[in-house]
Amino acid sequence: MIAESMNSAVPSDPPLQTVTRRAIIAIDGPAGAGKSTIARHLASYFGLLNLESGAMYRAFALKALTSGVAFEDVPALLQLSRETSIHLVPNETGNRVILDGVDVTGQLRQQVVTDGASRVSVHPQIRAWMVSLQQELGAQGGVVMEGRDIGTVVFPKADVKIFLDAAPEVRGLRRYDQLSPAAAEEVQPEEVVRELRARDERDRNRADSPLRPAADAIILDSTHMTLDEVVARAEAIVTEKLRQVSVPQA
Ligand code: DC
Repeated sequence: MIAESMNSAVPSDPPLQTVTRRAIIAIDGPAGAGKSTIARHLASYFGLLNLESGAMYRAFALKALTSGVAFEDVPALLQLSRETSIHLVPNETGNRVILDGVDVTGQLRQQVVTDGASRVSVHPQIRAWMVSLQQELGAQGGVVMEGRDIGTVVFPKADVKIFLDAAPEVRGLRRYDQLSPAAAEEVQPEEVVRELRARDERDRNRADSPLRPAADAIILDSTHMTLDEVVARAEAIVTEKLRQVSVPQA
């Protein structure tokens, strides 16, 4: 159903076409809110690149793990960051992540990496490095970038900012439903909700760039919405915002 609507997005109005091609769309929100699905859809619908900033923190956490560097050891992490290259390769199913020349996409959803990403991301020096990489990636525009601080720190002047949220229980249960049958055997739904709350707590309460909506973000709470409803609402928000910025203000 989502795929059917894709081509209808191409705007016929030339100023709107130009704005859309160069647009920066920021999608922020807590874990499990559906950011990846919505960002991927918006990128495809509006013909933009989809960039998952969380995948970069995950790749760096994986590097720390395989290098034996503790997530709390800031000097060692900083040294490690100087020896690390991370590239995102956007495609229809998400981003492939290339860490030091090797595709590590398949390793980034392990619980230990998820937890590590949240832990390395509390350090301001690591965030500063990541933010500069992300700003380079989006410098030319034409991107949908999802994360925690895209609308507040990475692209405070983004054309559109959506803060996607949902109640923690709903986000946790959605995550549980996405697990493979084998993974679902290993864990109780309550455990998934508990882990998600712990990550929320850390992401929202860190001193540097805590997860919060930008003052000018549109908050989209999907607690009582279906995926199709969220997709339709997000499309409408982006279309309306891009139309506003394509008209020069008097
Ligand atoms: O979006 P994700 O679940 O892949 O993100 C993994 C972790 O990375 C998340 O718990 C916090 C961190 N993160 C961040 O601090 N800032 C971002 N822009 C994206 C992710």
